Amino acid sequence: MMAYTCSSPSSSTSSFFSIKPKTPSPKPHFPKPHFIKASTNPSPPPPPQQQPKPISVSKPRRPLDENIRDEARRNNPTYSHLFSAKYVPFNPDPSHQTSDESYSLDEIVYRSRSGGLLDVEHDIAALKTYDGKYWRDLFDSRVGKTTWPYGSGVWSKKEWVLPEIDDADIVSAFEGNSNLFWAERYGKQFLGMNDLWVKHCGISHTGSFKDLGMTVLVSQVNRLRKMNRPVVGVGCASTGDTSAALSAYCASAGIPSIVFLPANRISIAQLVQPIANGAFVLSLDTDFDGCMHLIREVTSELPIYLANSLNSLRLEGQKTAAIEILQQFDWQVPDWVIVPGGNLGNIYAFYKGFHMCKELGLVDRIPRLVCAQAANANPLYLHYKSGWKDFKAVKANATFASAIQIGDPVSIDRAVYALKNSNGIVEEATEEELMDAMAEADSTGMFICPHTGVALTALIKLRKSGVIGKTDRTVVVSTAHGLKFTQSKIDYHSKEIKDMACRFANPPVHVKADFASVMDVLQRYLLSKSPNH
Ligand SMILES: Cc1ncc(COP(=O)(O)O)c(C=O)c1O
Repeated sequence: MMAYTCSSPSSSTSSFFSIKPKTPSPKPHFPKPHFIKASTNPSPPPPPQQQPKPISVSKPRRPLDENIRDEARRNNPTYSHLFSAKYVPFNPDPSHQTSDESYSLDEIVYRSRSGGLLDVEHDIAALKTYDGKYWRDLFDSRVGKTTWPYGSGVWSKKEWVLPEIDDADIVSAFEGNSNLFWAERYGKQFLGMNDLWVKHCGISHTGSFKDLGMTVLVSQVNRLRKMNRPVVGVGCASTGDTSAALSAYCASAGIPSIVFLPANRISIAQLVQPIANGAFVLSLDTDFDGCMHLIREVTSELPIYLANSLNSLRLEGQKTAAIEILQQFDWQVPDWVIVPGGNLGNIYAFYKGFHMCKELGLVDRIPRLVCAQAANANPLYLHYKSGWKDFKAVKANATFASAIQIGDPVSIDRAVYALKNSNGIVEEATEEELMDAMAEADSTGMFICPHTGVALTALIKLRKSGVIGKTDRTVVVSTAHGLKFTQSKIDYHSKEIKDMACRFANPPVHVKADFASVMDVLQRYLLSKSPNH
């Protein structure tokens, strides 16, 4: 392992240390989602073009002894659902339907009969009963509320995620609805861009985008356990963030969680999360790929539900970040979306979210996707460069972007499909490039993680080569909170990284604690900052 890779606890810190408001009128008119009571009226709901009921200005407060779950139950009594979803084999060529193999989401199944990946397929014909405007208005009406479960950015799209789950079974921390940040200064100063945005998926319950998928997976497990299915606990292999999300959601629902972590390869902030949330943590002397291999073997023998992104349920939650981006742009489509990729589930989730919005008439096109990899763990990049000829797994080397240190990505087929169908591009970032990009972004007021540094490096390269234009509306997906990766920033700013110039390091200045010394350094600093300097 490189000397600087993932600093151990003992290496410590010793060296130092708008979105425009919506026009309020006219009030949106949209029908409530039309759930029909199973026992009463089996006829389909009125088509959306019929005059909907106006919404009342304020609703009465719920009874004092009722919580928001009870309230949701009272408002949506037992109903049969108009919408449904099932597992089908992931098919990279939809024009060739090879089998009619499918599974209920209530089955415990991770792979197709042939050993391939599964996908969650929605009943698109049923969803198409409603037009794009209906869905846009419905989703917009749920943003920023506390109504269970729609206050969540994921569950505000429930009909497109897990339509059949009972609201009472949902395990949610009101995740999603994350900031889409206009990177004004960074865009202008470093890239000459005026329409650059960072989707801060890491400003979230456990500090990464993994919450979006984990709320879906753990909710489904909660449902399975209530159905007395044989699920004693939920397990995952993780490069840090998945285990944090899994343990938090399981803890919230009282479900045991088991996590397999590669010893000494994840940040302390990541490691402490499952520990604090009461997970059973196994620290293994192997890398992520080794942990993944082991958890798959173990979950085929024991009643432990597999929570890795091999499990397509998680991608259903993650895809809502793409829908949210469109929503935050008032349903205008950005030109580019750049996503850092490791196991490669997320790039497919983004594709799926955008594609569903197009298919269901919310938008008329999808953005071009860019997947950004660390050069030290770049199997997708090499595959792309070879013209998508024979994929080869690689031995992933240590990288500051430790959560994407994956050489044999589970979702390779999904990623290739997403990129081919979005006129996509793959880029890579060396350690120095990603750390410099992170430091420059931080110097403009962000505090990003190294994975976001990888995505920014891809952007820098594509801007330099002119592929991305200076007025192109571009979204960089920030996948984790920078506070989870402070050790890498400390190493950089103290210039303690072997073979790295750390060009943008900003170490603290040690000064004698007397007035003259302090004045001296301050005067020199102010002079260096004065406009005429
Ligand atoms: C912070 C962060 N960024 C990016 C990724 C990559 O996502 P995926 O494995 O879906 O490609 C991960 C996954 O572990 C992550 O934790």
